[in-house]
Amino acid sequence: MNIQQEIEMLTKEVESQALKTSEQLESFRLEYLSKKGKIPALFQRFREVDASERKEVGRVLNVLKNQAEDLFKVAKDEIETTSSAPEATFDASAPGIPFSTGSRHPLRLVANQLYEVFSRIGFIVAEGPEIEDDWHNFSALNFPEEHPARDMQDTFFIMNDPSMALRTHTSSVQVRMMETRKPPLRMIMPGRVYRNEAISARAHCFFHQVEGIYIDKNVSFADLKQTMLYFSRELFGADTQIRLRPSYFPFTEPSAEMDISCTVCKGKGCNICKYTGWVEILGCGMIHPNVLKNCDIDPEEYTGFAFGMGIERIAILKYQVKDLRLFSQNDIRFLKQFTGE
Ligand code: PHE
Repeated sequence: MNIQQEIEMLTKEVESQALKTSEQLESFRLEYLSKKGKIPALFQRFREVDASERKEVGRVLNVLKNQAEDLFKVAKDEIETTSSAPEATFDASAPGIPFSTGSRHPLRLVANQLYEVFSRIGFIVAEGPEIEDDWHNFSALNFPEEHPARDMQDTFFIMNDPSMALRTHTSSVQVRMMETRKPPLRMIMPGRVYRNEAISARAHCFFHQVEGIYIDKNVSFADLKQTMLYFSRELFGADTQIRLRPSYFPFTEPSAEMDISCTVCKGKGCNICKYTGWVEILGCGMIHPNVLKNCDIDPEEYTGFAFGMGIERIAILKYQVKDLRLFSQNDIRFLKQFTGE
């Protein structure tokens, strides 16, 4: 066998070595790398190689040597680290390490319940942007140009583009849905909204809403009332009563504020309902024909109702939370009181 064939053969041998134990490692060293090993022997024979072939033979021989040395070194490191590792300490009979799981946020619990209750009567969920233009937040909703709700007091405008604002209600999503879809529409719009109010136990600069619309042929005020009664009873209990008081919103006509019988005293009078027996929970009404027209829906053909409520308000009533700020302070002592789901 000439030296080149031998180098080739040894290269294959070295490549196929599996060095897992210190015994295998030692016999590999003896066989290939030690003074009397196969690779040094080849270096001995190198002297006999013809001058014309020396360069090439020298190159492959060095490659083989480096390869064998690398293999040895890597395997040695590996064997040393694993054998010097402490004995496995896993004890299957030891008690587990407890870690606390989170619970759902009370606002999320209420929102989920609203999704569930409304989905049972065919409403789907729609979402939209929190930074809105004037059209979707105000103009399309029939707000007159000089309406006080557009004032700086209530609305956070975007400084470098005052035609944009943080939405003050999710009615903006109603407009987006009415503009892009054809009736019948049955949707609820959850999301965060912003109003420039001084922060106190009863007000914050942001809160969460679920608003909704139902638009179809022949939708009437009776449908609105029945839908509101259905959802109130699902949320607050089968004996819940509702009452509607005339009100004003630019985007509904007629408009109403809705109260439910006080969930705490069941209408007898307590400090939650300020001894009236009723608590206000939402605004609603029949969608104003101008709003439908603004969204390319023919008010002669279609009618609809809309409603909007604050999720915090519902959560406060359901869980009797005294301070609105608790919902956004991330205090675990508060948050972990709400389980469920
Ligand atoms: N958008 C109103 C608000 O934020 C609520 C509302 C919605 C009232 C739909 C009537 C109809 O206060």
